Amino acid sequence: MKIIGTGSSLPKKIVTNDDLSAFLDTSDEWIRTRTGIRERHIAVEETTTSMGVEAARNALEDAGVAPEELDLIIAATVTSDRIIPMLSCQVQAELGAKNAVAFDIGAACSGFLFALGTANAYLSTGKYKNALIIGAETLSKIMDWTDRSTCVLFGDGAGAAVVSAEGDHLLSIVQGSDGAGGMALECVNRSTNNPFCRAESNTFSYVHMDGPAVYKFAVRTIPKAIMQVLDEAGLTPDQVDYYLLHQANLRILDAAAARLKQPMEKFPTNMERCGNISAASVPILLDEVCRAGKIKEGDLIVLAGFGAGLTWGACVLRW
Ligand code: COA
Repeated sequence: MKIIGTGSSLPKKIVTNDDLSAFLDTSDEWIRTRTGIRERHIAVEETTTSMGVEAARNALEDAGVAPEELDLIIAATVTSDRIIPMLSCQVQAELGAKNAVAFDIGAACSGFLFALGTANAYLSTGKYKNALIIGAETLSKIMDWTDRSTCVLFGDGAGAAVVSAEGDHLLSIVQGSDGAGGMALECVNRSTNNPFCRAESNTFSYVHMDGPAVYKFAVRTIPKAIMQVLDEAGLTPDQVDYYLLHQANLRILDAAAARLKQPMEKFPTNMERCGNISAASVPILLDEVCRAGKIKEGDLIVLAGFGAGLTWGACVLRW
């Protein structure tokens, strides 16, 4: 498979750390030094669907692929606008991609890597030619805006990529899950509530996170997954041109770079402007790096995601 086009979409409204400290007991200094985040985009007029559609249109235009030429759409999200129909089907309808099979994947911040791995499996059957993979999130709607330890970290947005069966970008991909550690980052869905079992309370919860536990998981898992994917491709960390990692925390990227003995220049970031956008982080960063002309043909690129589940994924691409 080959990534032949990328696109992204961010809400218009930018919320700075100072904006947050107007209603939360926090400060720009605390947020910047602990996370590297200065501001994030927050949806006001936008929805997960509208951002997913815009990112998809940009990726299709970049790829020179018409919506009718898509035979697969996979959307990774934990914040779709509706439980049903799924985000992928809503994007399909808006694009007029009537020949595509569309479904969603829930793998939180690893979602884009899981969508890429799934698209690769479908494309390698020979039955599918062009896939659209999307990571789109409106995390602001599942945040507790009184909880300073979580709401300052996240933002909203969408990223997309068009993937063709022709070409050999993907050298290796790994995915992993550890459900036993999953409660470190959770958000409860509706309770069972029916005539035979009345729920005591029937409200959705907001995201709850054990920050230090997730931090330790990320620092331990990401370099390991990257080493595994590089070993499988017969490569060393020095040979990689860029590491595009999930944008959760600058200190996590620093730690990964140190463990891989790589300079931070190889780790482009946008978290200072975007915060953590879960499944959308990696494809938005990929789109920004591609549009800035940073990636040349033949470059070796590592993509890696990690987060709720717990889940993780990494792949190495030769551009
Ligand atoms: N502003 C000011 N103080 C804050 C704060 C904020 N926004 N958030 C938390 N604090 C306080 C805490 O209440 C705590 O105060 P206390 O010592 O009086 O109890 C203190 O800061 C330290 O909290 P702690 O959670 O130990 O900080 P930390 O150094 O671990 O940093 C995170 C917190 C969330 C930045 C860090 O744990 C982290 O990045 N974890 C990974 C999270 C992540 O990436 N999740 C998504 C993965 S996809």
